[in-house]
Amino acid sequence: MSATLPKADTRGAGAQPTSYGNYIDGAWVGAASGRTFENRNPADTSDLVGRFAESGPEDVERAVAAAREAFPRWRALPAPRRGEILYRAAEILVRRKEELARDMTREMGKVLPETRGDVQEAIDMTYYMAGEGRRQFGQTTPSELSNKFQMSVRMPVGVAGLITPWNFPMAIPSWKMMPALVLGNTVVIKPASDTPLSVVNLVKVLEEAGLPKGVVNMVTGGGTHVGAPLMSHRDVHIVSFTGSTGVGRKVSEACAPAFKHCHLEMGGKNVIMVMDDARLDLAVDGAVWGGFGTTGQRCTAASRVAVHTKVYREFVERFAERAKALKVGGGLADPGAEMGPCINEAQRQTVEKYVKIGRDEGATLLAGGRRLDQGPYAKGWFHEPTIFGDVDPRMRIATEEIFGPVVSVIPVDSLDEAIEVGNSVEYGLSASIYTQDVSSAFRAMRDMYTGIFYVNAPTIGAETHLPFGGTKNTGNGHREACVQALEVFSEWKSIYIDYSGHLQRAQIDTEVGE
Ligand code: UN1
Repeated sequence: MSATLPKADTRGAGAQPTSYGNYIDGAWVGAASGRTFENRNPADTSDLVGRFAESGPEDVERAVAAAREAFPRWRALPAPRRGEILYRAAEILVRRKEELARDMTREMGKVLPETRGDVQEAIDMTYYMAGEGRRQFGQTTPSELSNKFQMSVRMPVGVAGLITPWNFPMAIPSWKMMPALVLGNTVVIKPASDTPLSVVNLVKVLEEAGLPKGVVNMVTGGGTHVGAPLMSHRDVHIVSFTGSTGVGRKVSEACAPAFKHCHLEMGGKNVIMVMDDARLDLAVDGAVWGGFGTTGQRCTAASRVAVHTKVYREFVERFAERAKALKVGGGLADPGAEMGPCINEAQRQTVEKYVKIGRDEGATLLAGGRRLDQGPYAKGWFHEPTIFGDVDPRMRIATEEIFGPVVSVIPVDSLDEAIEVGNSVEYGLSASIYTQDVSSAFRAMRDMYTGIFYVNAPTIGAETHLPFGGTKNTGNGHREACVQALEVFSEWKSIYIDYSGHLQRAQIDTEVGE
């Protein structure tokens, strides 16, 4: 690496604005160009969280070279030893949980109970994958021949290029990094430009846990100058991406010519189905947190609620009342805040665009509908929790992913209609039903074509030890988390061992030819 690269200031996270470099081959270095970009608190844009390296293809090149060089040594380290490093990282994450959650609220905007949950998901995944250091089971099966032994083992793929979103700034990077690492891959990660600090923090934890240099590299910057060269780099053998379906399609196309492993986790338009026998207190509560948790900026968000006409009026009244009473605020400035800001002004404008679309389409605005920009909200990207009622399932607000605090309530006459409406979108991540009837619950579970399904709980809250991902335009057939993540980050090798001492021809003649 060039000695002329500027040294980056990597003082710990704190109240003072500071600057953070890329992490390449075990060193914190500025972008080759020397340029930086700002990261500001979305709840208070006068608060500069930090300056980060605005990198380009030359930085990606260095990071990939470091990951490639580190690969033979890292894959040769016994998997239990790799797992132990992850275990130490998990212990450090536990100790720093509060500090990491506060940094995350500051850069991402979601309220503290949620950022604590985000760090907790990283902890859970890191422990889980640390354990995989001692499993990574393969198969042994009997051979057709008497003196032959056979088995299959996992191999790492090589250099993993990880491109991660801003809505789960530490959880999702850990979902990708930890399985990649325990299997013996090396990593180059590009965090979302809205939330690089949480990945800086995660990388520092891994560094402190004793991860050898070059095994994880981080390059900050935009999609065009960092993401694109990373995914199309010839020495990157697997790409894992979480983000919009539009960008996911580009990632898929970039991976196709070289037949790279490509794991995509994309959009959602998830539905909560509320049946006429549902406990409405539970259903309303689920719709509030499923719809407005993380300001609706989850791929698992419950952006549609299909409600049986028999309980429709009562449901929408109670739901709108709860939404209007939600305490919107900055998670650090206001400890009582229940819903934070949108991630940035562009996202808030998208929300406003869809509010206008919903009005123009003839849906009934039941709550919210406006940006919040006065008083304590003046310096942030806040928007009211918004509910549309009487929504036709074909309306754009009911079919397109908004990624903001906007929920469409759709009246339905039966379970069959709820399932039909639920499945009518191009996404298939998560769905849920509120009912007291076990048969309805099982039918919906069977017939909803989604990767995740909940009964009497909202569409959010997936845990790290079950596979995470969706059908249709949500994914490309792979899953994150759980043992399924191992499939993404490894290749199988089948091994046959002949201990007969016979020439092949003789063996085939006597055993197979009979
Ligand atoms: C996402 O929105 O990309 O199930 C992930 C959930 C969280 C993860 C969401 N555990 O809502």
